[in-house]
Amino acid sequence: MIKLGRNDACWCGSGLKYKKCHSSFDDKIEEFRLKGAIVPDREMIKTKEQIEGIKASAKINMEILDYVGEHIKAGVTTEEINQWVHDITIKNGAIPAPLDYEGFPKSVCTSINNVVCHGIPSKDVVLKDGDIVNVDVSTILNGYFSDSSRMYCIGEVSEDKKRLVEIAKKSIEVGLEQVKPWGFLGDMGQAINDFVRENGYTVVREIGGHGIGLEFHEEPWVSYVSEKGTEMLMVPGMVFTIEPMINMGAQEIYIDEEDGWTVYTEDGSPSAQWEIQLVVTEDGYEILCW
Ligand code: MF3
Ligand code: CO
Repeated sequence: MIKLGRNDACWCGSGLKYKKCHSSFDDKIEEFRLKGAIVPDREMIKTKEQIEGIKASAKINMEILDYVGEHIKAGVTTEEINQWVHDITIKNGAIPAPLDYEGFPKSVCTSINNVVCHGIPSKDVVLKDGDIVNVDVSTILNGYFSDSSRMYCIGEVSEDKKRLVEIAKKSIEVGLEQVKPWGFLGDMGQAINDFVRENGYTVVREIGGHGIGLEFHEEPWVSYVSEKGTEMLMVPGMVFTIEPMINMGAQEIYIDEEDGWTVYTEDGSPSAQWEIQLVVTEDGYEILCW
């Protein structure tokens, strides 16, 4: 990290002198670091301009999920959902982030029932009455990344699956209560894990959220089974996702050996996930994408 002079222009691009801008902010982070905290580096702290860029990307991402919500129903294949997502993204001058990401073959992830995440759309997978499905959309616009996912209930869904979907959604709200500057990601992770367990479900340990903005997956990795007071310090300008995967049964998972992507619950129980993207602000957070 470059040490700036007090009268130099601030690194955040505000045009202000460093002493009038992020100087005391940097000092505060340094204090936490000296006390042993894991602290973010500068790349994780987004400027105003970058946040505007992410918001424009997020607008498309949310429009896509709205469209999916209006058209998804029994009889639709997950390949059709992939086509919707791909076409709306391109029409808006954007790029679907999942396509070719580490070899992922499609433009969106579609994860049904006992699929935890990273389900690959296919013309052979037809949605049917009673399914719960996660559609995970990620968009790149002008180099800025957005990422969010929602659950959809197809037709008549059983009460126990509906409850799973609701608790998964609520767990994000519970986590959000802990998102504020100078708190720790573990405060949020523990709140989610405690809430989910109180409701009789489990949180997947191996897959978490992530920083995002100029890349699809940036530091930090965000766990939802972490402990209060641990993990990275949250500071204004940090952008990351909250996307806990909640299993009705045991927390163990496995990855499909054939396709290398699809993640299943070990015990075959249903799993639900919602994902939002946020920025930490001076007094809490702002949701950028949901
Ligand atoms: N959207 C997923 C996430 O929340 C990422 C999926 S990676 C992909 O991080 F390649 F499968 F798309
Ligand atoms: Co994500």
